[in-house]
Order: sequence, then C-alpha cells, then structure tokens
Amino acid sequence: MIKIRAEKAEDYTVIDEINSSAFKGESEGKLIRAIRESEWFVPELSLIAEWHEDVVGHILFSEVMIQTKNKQVPTLALAPMAVSPRHQKEGIGSLLVQQGLDKARQFGYEHVVVLGHPNFYPKFGFVSSVSKGIEPPFPVPEEVFMVLELKEGSLEGIRGKVAYPPSFSAVT
Ligand SMILES: CC(C)(COP(=O)(O)OP(=O)(O)OC[C@H]1O[C@@H](n2cnc3c(N)ncnc32)[C@H](O)[C@@H]1OP(=O)(O)O)[C@@H](O)C(=O)NCCC(=O)NCCS
Repeated sequence: MIKIRAEKAEDYTVIDEINSSAFKGESEGKLIRAIRESEWFVPELSLIAEWHEDVVGHILFSEVMIQTKNKQVPTLALAPMAVSPRHQKEGIGSLLVQQGLDKARQFGYEHVVVLGHPNFYPKFGFVSSVSKGIEPPFPVPEEVFMVLELKEGSLEGIRGKVAYPPSFSAVT
C-alpha cells in the first residue's frame, strides 16, 4: 500500500538519495534544495511516496512564471520527480503525478508545465506546450516540454514563454 504525503524535514536526506540514484547524479538534489530555499517553493506540493514506512519516491511542483507580452502569469513546474530504482515500473510515479495534480488543483493552480518523457506525461493530459501557445524557457524538442490545464480553458488567450527562477540553474 503506497501512501502519498507532503515531505517533512526528516525526509530531506532520503529524498536526496532517491534523486541521486534515480538520476545517477547530484543535479536534481541540488535543484530541490535550491527551490526549497526560494520564494517559489510550495511545501504542500513537495510530495513523497511511502511504502511500508520507507520513502520510495518524490515529486516537486514549484511556482514559475509565463512571461507574456505585458504581464507575468504564475504557473507551476513539475520538476523533478524520481522513484527509487528498485521500485520503478510499479505505478508509484503515476500515483505521485496524479495526486500531485489533484492537490495543485485544490490549491487553485490553473496549469502546470513539465520538461520530461513525452511517452509518460501525456497519459495525465499533458500536451506539447507550443500547441497551447506556451514556449519553453530554452530550446528543446517540442514534444518534451508539455503543459496541462488543471482548469479547462485556463490557457486561452495566454501566449508567452516560461521563465524559470534562478534556482533552476542547478540543472539547466
Ligand atoms: C520516470 C519515473 C519517475 C517514473 O516512475 P515509475 O514509478 O517507474 O512510473 P510508473 O510505474 O507509474 O510508470 C512507468 C512509466 O514510466 C515511463 N518511463 C520511465 N522511465 C522512462 C524513461 N527513461 N523513458 C521513457 N519513459 C519512461 C514509462 O512510460 C512507463 O510507462 P509504461 O508503464 O506505459 O511502460 C522513474 O522511472 C524515475 O525515477 N526515472 C529516473 C528519473 C527520471 O527520469 N525522472 C523523470 C524526469 S521527467
């Protein structure tokens, strides 16, 4: 039985370990720490998956902006997400995404962007961001930068480019 809950301070080390083993590097752990210390952090949207009291997965949503011609529109970025290698392909990542999106919707967020696998995120409703008029923050293949409307039609009339805050420079 997998339980999804918000992270606590005592989870920080294991979250770091899961990210470094899943990504085989330290950049994502650095990114998480930088976001946690920033004004863009949303503590309720840093979620962990627990299995028999072991933390086996983590997902983070934090605030970023869409820069349009004349204003900044707040949105959420899903990044990063990791499941412990010995527990991958058991549905834990999907559960983290699904419950994270539900929680983001409850908090009133209207859309989410993600840079990730184009065969994983579309099953949650993500589509290529450019198809909705939203450009990625830097040049990437169109299909890997995606957006999801948590509220139908919420991106209508919004045209712009995503701007990541400085904390994202740990991985970009
Ligand atoms: C991506 C990740 C979080 C998915 O977690 P998970 O618990 O294995 O996911 P689920 O069991 O819910 O679903 C498995 C799906 O992951 C997708 N997936 C996992 N790794 C993938 C990869 N390297 N490339 C493409 N798709 C991948 C597949 O689409 C698979 O779907 P399927 O069941 O239709 O085959 C996990 O594999 C992971 O930590 N990978 C390493 C870190 C990473 O790449 N993070 C995501 C950055 S976008």
